[in-house]
Amino acid sequence: MFTFKEDLNLLKEKGLRRCLRLLESESSAWFIVDGKRVLNLCSNNYLGLANDERIKGAAINAIRDYGFGSGASRLVCGNMKLHKELEDKLTKFKKSEACLVFNSGYTANIGIISALAKKGDIIFCDRYNHASIIDGIILSRAEFRRYPHKDTVALEYLLKKSSGFRRRFIVTDSVFSMDGDIAPLGKLIEFAKRYDCLFIIDEAHATGVLGESGRGALEYLGLEDKKDSVIQMGTLSKALGGFGAYVCGSRDLIDYLINYSRAFIYTTSLPPTVAAANIKALEIIQEDSSLREKLWDNVKFFKDNLHSLGFDTLDFQTPIIPLITKEPKLTMDFSKRLFDAGVFVQGIRPPTVPKGKARLRITLMATHTTKDLQFALDKIEKIGKDLCLI
Ligand SMILES: Cc1ncc(COP(=O)(O)O)c(C=O)c1O
Repeated sequence: MFTFKEDLNLLKEKGLRRCLRLLESESSAWFIVDGKRVLNLCSNNYLGLANDERIKGAAINAIRDYGFGSGASRLVCGNMKLHKELEDKLTKFKKSEACLVFNSGYTANIGIISALAKKGDIIFCDRYNHASIIDGIILSRAEFRRYPHKDTVALEYLLKKSSGFRRRFIVTDSVFSMDGDIAPLGKLIEFAKRYDCLFIIDEAHATGVLGESGRGALEYLGLEDKKDSVIQMGTLSKALGGFGAYVCGSRDLIDYLINYSRAFIYTTSLPPTVAAANIKALEIIQEDSSLREKLWDNVKFFKDNLHSLGFDTLDFQTPIIPLITKEPKLTMDFSKRLFDAGVFVQGIRPPTVPKGKARLRITLMATHTTKDLQFALDKIEKIGKDLCLI
């Protein structure tokens, strides 16, 4: 008879069993996890907006005006004024023609990809793309080829070999969630044009973080003049500190998704309070660049100091810093010792990252002080030495 325990024990033996940690406070720079006050070095709340007072106020007002739930899916009677306002603001922010909000980044990716791609199509996917992209591809039933991470030579080889498909797609994270590096978007846009592909990017970790105005990777790389050839998906759950996701593109694309995307059609819309909070966050990141500037100052400080310690941190270019520890058990030991010393960094193990590439995924926030970062660096150095990693 099938038992769950067997599989769970197998995971445990390999050092791969996951368990939930309990957050007992706001998700701020210092927070309380499992009863202990620790430095937060692993959230995606890059700008500290998840607990911003202005956003809390907007959310509370929306509850007063619109109640807590939306009551239905968007296409039935759950399309509230705040959803439209959020989409209008996102359209302007991304300088796009139209926008559609989904309930999360995960549902956006499965909803967009499975609506656009079908059996008979082919999708080219960076090997390090987020799991939600892979799940969207599987759901679409299109064929797919994973190309080695950011390897445009390998991708072009695959593109050249792929004739006879109805439609071709290239899909990539713009910022890779576990490696913190940036996709070669200029080259990929060129390929999409040359090989007649639809090109989708996932801006989950770029929105609010990259570019002078926080519009994301196209702004950062000076490629916004090419934006009409890119379907841009992004989340509201990371730098914007809220919940939900968006896709920006042509009016026709958005109308198509409203009609064909099952992950959009068959689910209750975001609570109005979440929409209101997202709207406020969007206003804040557009009106005030100081949080983004502070975040990047923190990245520079941390990067310079961490490099001098001699850890392997791959080639990160963003506030996501992979500190490579290779083996799952060592990774979790490092994470536990850091926690005991007052720093919370999660260990990331296969299958989230490739075998042999387990790591601590360090993420920085605008609300970290230099003193906080130095505190973390000191602990990382000491424990890294104890574990013979440096
Ligand atoms: C690249 C990427 N895409 C999509 C998602 C999913 O977003 P959400 O957490 O809003 O569902 C994540 C979140 O981890 C991500 O890193």
